[in-house]
Amino acid sequence: MTPAGRIAEGSAGRVRFGARPGARATDRADGLAAGYRGDGLVAVDPSGPVARGGTAEIWSGRTRTGTRVAVKALGAAASGDPSVRAELAREAAALTSLDHPGVVRLVEHAALSPALARSTGGRLRAATPYLAIEWLGGGDLQSWCGWLSWPEVHALLEDLLAALAHVHARGLVHRDIKPANVLLRGREPGDGVVLADFQLACPFVQAPPLLVHADMSGTPAYMAPEQLAGHACAVGPWTDLYALGCLAWCLVTGVPPYGVAPDAARRGHTGGALPRLRPRMAVPDGLSSWLARLLQRELPARYASADEALHGLGELAGAFTVRRAS
Ligand SMILES: Nc1ncnc2c1ncn2[C@@H]1O[C@H](COP(=O)(O)OP(=O)(O)O)[C@@H](O)[C@H]1O
Ligand SMILES: [Mg+2]
Repeated sequence: MTPAGRIAEGSAGRVRFGARPGARATDRADGLAAGYRGDGLVAVDPSGPVARGGTAEIWSGRTRTGTRVAVKALGAAASGDPSVRAELAREAAALTSLDHPGVVRLVEHAALSPALARSTGGRLRAATPYLAIEWLGGGDLQSWCGWLSWPEVHALLEDLLAALAHVHARGLVHRDIKPANVLLRGREPGDGVVLADFQLACPFVQAPPLLVHADMSGTPAYMAPEQLAGHACAVGPWTDLYALGCLAWCLVTGVPPYGVAPDAARRGHTGGALPRLRPRMAVPDGLSSWLARLLQRELPARYASADEALHGLGELAGAFTVRRAS
């Protein structure tokens, strides 16, 4: 099936409050992750950004070896802000520590040369830090929500859980899992999906004093109660699994469980009863229970690891009996 339309959503819906955990002593004043250089950006498509986020712009570019890349750079207005430069550097640091087919691959983290800045007509400034990321031209998952069959959704969730297991095994929590941050390798989700946008990623095993930092950055429609509460020390793999539950809910119904309006979503995540699942496609009987396990407010009742959630998903496939959307 084809989606109703595609929109490059960027950071739409994301909120950022308070200090963020995970700041590292290695963050450099110039915003570059120490020592990380790739194979050299040599061209940026001068026709303008292909997408815009909250602070970054995504441009199409090419490296010395001819590889097409997405250039995630700070726009002229944000490029002088040390906090957003540090955030981009942390995204680079997170990506540098990851290596998985289901996670977007960082090609280079560097500062824009004067010649490349000129080639953008000055819309990107010289010395602006950028990430060159493998090009994923199929758009994101948002526009596919509600349009896939259950077997397609199932395969996609397996891939995302495998990617999350890798991220968590490397000691990181993503903190912004949502359809807009899952990019497609090809024209359809069946061609492969990749977890992207590690701008909010942070280590979840943190030494004091980072534990005392309050931080409730994220996208309310997909945020776990502990993340909404700003309990940095309670945020962990289970927080991403809660968000994955919201994403899975969105894939089968077209909307996340408590809607997308930030205030209503916050109320839902922190105190509302989980609505009845109204799938748009035939789904297995056990799906509601699997989702409810991901969307538990209390941590002990929630799946604690991606592997555990993957196992539950596998059992669901074995017990497939069709239930039509009501
Ligand atoms: N590697 C990529 N290849 C192609 N397009 C990309 C890539 N990374 C991001 N984009 C586009 O840019 C948008 C915003 O990127 P993202 O990393 O999510 O930034 P933000 O932090 O602003 O949300 C994505 O939704 C997608 O449309
Ligand atoms: Mg994003």
